[in-house]
Amino acid sequence: MKYLLKTLLGGKKREVTNDNLTSTFLASCYEETKKIGYQFGKSVSNKGAIVCLEGDLGSGKTTFVKGIATAVGINETLITSPTFNYLNIFDRLVHFDLYRLKSYHEFLSMGFDEYFDDQLIVCIEWPHVIKAILPKQLYWIKLNHNLCGRSIIINKLA
Ligand SMILES: Nc1ncnc2c1ncn2[C@@H]1O[C@H](COP(=O)(O)OP(=O)(O)OP(=O)(O)O)[C@@H](O)[C@H]1O
Ligand SMILES: [Mg+2]
Repeated sequence: MKYLLKTLLGGKKREVTNDNLTSTFLASCYEETKKIGYQFGKSVSNKGAIVCLEGDLGSGKTTFVKGIATAVGINETLITSPTFNYLNIFDRLVHFDLYRLKSYHEFLSMGFDEYFDDQLIVCIEWPHVIKAILPKQLYWIKLNHNLCGRSIIINKLA
């Protein structure tokens, strides 16, 4: 996590806490959410990662994914909310939005777990519904509205 932090912060002020497994950032605007997503994306871009994004409606989950996408060479304008079809698939990145998914059985029956592949970055908005079947190693990112804009808490689970 130290490496990740160093990359994310680039010596700047966004870090609030760091206990080696958890890092908290403040993003005061849309561009900052994207930038933190970008730096996070760079730190995982040479390997795969499961990236779970928890947060209320409009908390910035898709914005963060736009940043990750840019980090792996995908045009951010292609990253839109896949609410009606559960997922969008790109070269190196799969973007799920499970807001409307009813159970993890549905997820498994559609074969979506095949995307848990160590070469892909798999971003999952509204991940709780599949929590029981997620791999143990993942990033759990929590976004919250706050007075400054958004807080972004990145947890690395192993
Ligand atoms: N740090 C920030 N400060 C203020 N506004 C932000 C910030 N980050 C993102 N936003 C804005 O929040 C709004 C919602 O962003 P976004 O669509 O990424 O949220 P979401 O969590 O994916 O929403 P949903 O739950 O509908 O999928 C957008 O208008 C975006 O510009
Ligand atoms: Mg979204």
